[in-house]
Amino acid sequence: MKILIFNGGPHKGNTWRLTQIAKKYIQKIDNTVQFCEVHLSDINIPFCTGCSNCFRKGHKTCPHHNKMQPIIDMIEECDAVIFSIPCFQGHLPGIMKNFTDHMAFMLHRPRYFKKKALIISTTGGVSAESTTKALAATLPGWGFNKCYQLPITALSWNDYKPTEKDLRRTYDITKKFFLDVKSGKAHVPGVGVLIPFNLFQAICVDNKGEKEYPTEDNNFWPKYNGMRYAPGIPMTHFKRVIGWLIYQIGKKLSQKMVITYRK
Ligand SMILES: Cc1cc2nc3c(=O)[nH]c(=O)nc-3n(C[C@H](O)[C@H](O)[C@H](O)COP(=O)(O)O)c2cc1C
Repeated sequence: MKILIFNGGPHKGNTWRLTQIAKKYIQKIDNTVQFCEVHLSDINIPFCTGCSNCFRKGHKTCPHHNKMQPIIDMIEECDAVIFSIPCFQGHLPGIMKNFTDHMAFMLHRPRYFKKKALIISTTGGVSAESTTKALAATLPGWGFNKCYQLPITALSWNDYKPTEKDLRRTYDITKKFFLDVKSGKAHVPGVGVLIPFNLFQAICVDNKGEKEYPTEDNNFWPKYNGMRYAPGIPMTHFKRVIGWLIYQIGKKLSQKMVITYRK
């Protein structure tokens, strides 16, 4: 099993130290797990320019594709990701927000359907929870199957010494995350991800020949035609019906609506 540890902060501070503790807990449970790391601060991805090339022509036409593709591939090649994200003003640090902006095309064309995430954040006093929640709201849009959250109040600016209670909580959540990854079982998707999956599919399938407003989405969705969610992910009968209803709404809307990225 391979776990990617993703440092989404600008340095190795309190959050990184807590992340290292979580890593040790996993190694104690299973010493065969392989870890690899990404440190966003080493990669220097320029700000997203808002060119919309990723939406219209495909993410390979992003002006920063050479910096992004290796990270996209690293996520693809692992079984799960631990995101280490300090709380800056109750939200993701700018360096991480910039990364998620570059990944926004995945909200239209999701792919990481079998991946699970653990999101760790520390804060000086307040809002670690809004930080982990912000990323946990984004990752399912990229396809992530399940997100565990570990928000911790460190009461420290770079000199965090975890309390016994913090260590217990870190152990409990990390273990739950790890055993879930190890089980290899996928979870039934929430309605929140069935909406974009079925709406985009309804709007884009049969739109491949669109000449006036061609978008990469039109090339992407035909492979999922007729599927209410990604293959290999379990669905209940109820969720299938919900997906089908969303799809029908999308079909109706697509008769009246033209989505354009015209500049
Ligand atoms: C730019 C910046 C913004 C911060 N915003 C908050 C905040 O909104 N709430 C808070 O309680 N602490 C805030 N802090 C304190 C950090 O969240 C806290 O020290 C955290 O443990 C930092 O993690 P790190 O050492 O991994 O960067 C902020 C610190 C920085 C540098």
